Amino acid sequence: MSTTETLIAAAEAHGAHNYAPLPVVVASADGAWMTDVEGRRYLDLLAGYSALNFGHRNRRIVEAAKAQLERVTLTSRAFHHDRYAAFCEQLAQLCGMEMVLPMNTGAEAVETAVKTARKWGYRVKGVPAEMAKIVVAGNNFHGRTTTLISFSTDPEARADFGPYTPGFEIVPYGDLTAMRSALSENTVAVLLEPIQGEAGVLVPPTGYLPAVRELARERNVLFVADEIQSGLGRTGRTFACEHEGVVPDMYVLGKALGGGVVPVSAVVSSAEVLGVFRPGEHGSTFGGNPLACAVALEVIAMLRTGEFQDRSARLGERLHRELAALADGERVTAVRGRGLWAGVDIAPKHGTGREVSERLMDRGVLVKDTHGATIRIAPPLVISEEDLDWGLAQLAAVLEG
Ligand SMILES: Cc1ncc(COP(=O)(O)O)c(C=O)c1O
Repeated sequence: MSTTETLIAAAEAHGAHNYAPLPVVVASADGAWMTDVEGRRYLDLLAGYSALNFGHRNRRIVEAAKAQLERVTLTSRAFHHDRYAAFCEQLAQLCGMEMVLPMNTGAEAVETAVKTARKWGYRVKGVPAEMAKIVVAGNNFHGRTTTLISFSTDPEARADFGPYTPGFEIVPYGDLTAMRSALSENTVAVLLEPIQGEAGVLVPPTGYLPAVRELARERNVLFVADEIQSGLGRTGRTFACEHEGVVPDMYVLGKALGGGVVPVSAVVSSAEVLGVFRPGEHGSTFGGNPLACAVALEVIAMLRTGEFQDRSARLGERLHRELAALADGERVTAVRGRGLWAGVDIAPKHGTGREVSERLMDRGVLVKDTHGATIRIAPPLVISEEDLDWGLAQLAAVLEG
């Protein structure tokens, strides 16, 4: 057996089968490239589902992490530490908000948003106890906890994991009429991905997000934007909401905030909203730890210049131009997305998204399929034009036959 086969067999023997990874075993990575245990190189066109927006082992981020590793890495929130204030202040500033509540994973941050909205609903809006409702969209993906899968519409995510958490109402994504009629006096929040990533990079109809924004304002409901995958430069702006001039009441952030180094997530909102928490009501041992704050501070500094957002917008035009040329119905049936982010529906005669991903892997390009026929392309924003062109040429070659 090859080293790859041996390691995959051992992973399958001892690791739970909750993912179906492509059969590649990565040993090292740099920028937009990964190298496997056999020494083969692969262009990474997935970027850890946007967790690696700044590339693998980005020098600035690694240096910031190393410097912090030499000082202090964890205090728990029992004590203050000297990176916390700057992290909260600068992240709030980047978001145009006032307060931050740090966690670690994306799912934890969405859970935090749910708790925040409910408490705000009871304490500020005046919703009767236990009656708070949160409206979400069909085909959403917000994470894997029992509460979050309670409002998933994906049978694989839900089956056998009940009983489910009540208090959520699901409406079709992009349907304003359904959204309007779902809002009631007890609605505390609307929770949406401004672009649905896992669903296949679905961009809602133009005008939908501003209309939901307005509706939420009218009905005294919080508009919560889950920008865990769409945010922090991915779409060519800091936040996907910006494309339509929308400012939510709360951002939920994760993935790229950790610079591809450590899990860092956060809820960012106004003092009125996040001010509802009292000591003991919510928290996390690791949330807001010194190492996480140091890494995130570097990420925030990098985003502040706008350089990565511009790069994503510019290379994104190139990406979408090339993909549009493939979308002739014979090779690709549809392409969606913004910036360096695309969902590509493969014509059925070329096989499933998984099969196309495997053929791309054989050509040294890594992507990931979703929902049968779709592949997702989300390169690190640091990818060079040449590498992007080369990766797309491999896709064209795979779809040639
Ligand atoms: C929009 C969105 N929300 C939440 C999550 C969950 O994040 P995590 O996997 O870090 O828990 C994801 C992960 O893909 C996501 O795309």
